[in-house]
Amino acid sequence: MKVEALPVTKGNYNLEDYEQTYRNFDWSEVEKNFSFSETGRVNVAHEAIDRHADSARKNKVALYYRDSERDEKYTFKEMKDMSNKAGNILKQTCDVEKGDRVFIFMPRSPELYFAALGAIKLGAIVGPLFEAFMEGAVKDRLEDSEAKVIITTPALLNRIPLDDLPALKHVVLVGENVKEEGPYIDFNSRMKEASKKLQVEWVEKTDGLVLHYTSGSTGKPKGVLHVHNAMIQHYQTAKWVLDLKEEDVYWCTADPGWVTGTAYGIFGPWLVGASNVIVGGRFRPEAWYETIEDYGVSVWYSAPTAFRMLMGAGDEVVKKYDLSSLRHILSVGEPLNPEVIRWGVKVFNLRVHDTWWMTETGAQLICNYPALEIKPGSMGKPIPGVEAAIVDDQGNELPPYRMGNLAIKKGWPSMMHTIWNNKEKYESYFMPGDWYVSGDSAYMDEEGYFWFQGRIDDVIMTSGERVGPFEVESKLVEHPAVAEAGVIGKPDPVRGEIIKAFVALRDGHTASDELKEEIRQFVKRGLAAHAAPREIEFRDKLPKTRSGKIMRRVLKAWELDLPTGDLSTMED
Ligand code: WT7
Repeated sequence: MKVEALPVTKGNYNLEDYEQTYRNFDWSEVEKNFSFSETGRVNVAHEAIDRHADSARKNKVALYYRDSERDEKYTFKEMKDMSNKAGNILKQTCDVEKGDRVFIFMPRSPELYFAALGAIKLGAIVGPLFEAFMEGAVKDRLEDSEAKVIITTPALLNRIPLDDLPALKHVVLVGENVKEEGPYIDFNSRMKEASKKLQVEWVEKTDGLVLHYTSGSTGKPKGVLHVHNAMIQHYQTAKWVLDLKEEDVYWCTADPGWVTGTAYGIFGPWLVGASNVIVGGRFRPEAWYETIEDYGVSVWYSAPTAFRMLMGAGDEVVKKYDLSSLRHILSVGEPLNPEVIRWGVKVFNLRVHDTWWMTETGAQLICNYPALEIKPGSMGKPIPGVEAAIVDDQGNELPPYRMGNLAIKKGWPSMMHTIWNNKEKYESYFMPGDWYVSGDSAYMDEEGYFWFQGRIDDVIMTSGERVGPFEVESKLVEHPAVAEAGVIGKPDPVRGEIIKAFVALRDGHTASDELKEEIRQFVKRGLAAHAAPREIEFRDKLPKTRSGKIMRRVLKAWELDLPTGDLSTMED
């Protein structure tokens, strides 16, 4: 299939120059930008904030924040002071030390960023939790990580089962009129008194930085640990792929509960000293365009679901705003439809640049970087310093156009360090030949562009969020009416996939729309809104293997009217 490549629409990029410069690229070159090249020790929060605060850039705006109630900005100097204060609270009132897990469970706000940076300055490992998580999801994560401190808001407190979490010693509350008693600490009042002076903890580059829980096809969510060394790639990709320059105003729409919101919502942009726009609250097309217009956003990183929603809101809305500041647009999280790219060229006169990576990879790997011609539908090419291939199940490289496992050669700086408490799981990601196997299937064309085909496992990507079917199934069977449940991703034009559950009821329960809604709400309350099935179908029996495993591929085939394939392992 011949695809018309899209040349660069704005800016002056030369692919030959670029490839020439980086032909012999070595990641160790990038290290030279950071303190560990001299001292052997480092701290990302210092490199991202304090380094600029102590330079001529100190009065440059680091953070623009707004939501429906607040509209604030902070310079690098102010970010240094505020994160030092937050660090002092954590150190003095919660005894946080290097290696302790400090979780942050709250909606986006400047305080979230002060607290995260403050914890990192102490050498603690930050565990960001998406605000929509409900009690079950919060408990799993705090329990597995043995978090010592959680920073949250009074409104979310009832989702933290304190009595079941013996390792959790302190609860820092960000809110009004907080009473300090028992484990509770009043963040806002203490920020007023806390000292602006803090000694940064210098750590090894392999010391823990962030712990992101993510879903697989089986088992509970796993804790992907990233270390300070990841900054090398965050910094370099912020330059190459985000194309951030000194004067840029950058907006990443992802929440720090997901890896995009830390790697490219905190580290990447601040490591290169760009101004970072953070917007809280819900999605509304007008508000998004307003954000770009008001702040003069020049580089914008978002997700296919959001672009599709903007597309759905119509081209007329776009014309109401002055979006001429935009220079570079990027996307991540799910396949980027060629249609979205064509729409971007039409309404913004810019290409949308797809980027491929995962929680586990820590940073971008396969990308449509600015100088590259874009083939709509392709994720682009591996960035310099990254070797990607399509391999078979034994780790043998496959020739162009053969579909197989998308794999990356070990050795890129931001690769996960381990899976928390689960070395075996970590090791299961690798194949002979030092290949990291992504779980995605793809092929490569003769020019080295990669084309995403799907997940090899049953993991669901809904509105860019990764949901493990097992987690949803486990919650479903906790409902008293549910005997068995099987969960699949069903293709959806806006959300990529939606979650569909097939449910067999226990004796004595009758199928009804009310029951469907009750079950939906049950999952929503127990896990998270985005993990609740949008569709539920009752069935007398679910297809199972003889060993009792629900056969999701058969459910999917039923749903999509596809051949069910080999049924030899199915019972009856
Ligand atoms: C899975 C990883 C990296 C932050 C967002 C998601 C899918 C990611 C693309 C893309 C097609 C993509 C893959 C991957 N994915 N980017 N550009 N095209 N699919 O991180 O939650 O760890 O999910 O997202 O299936 O394995 P995540």
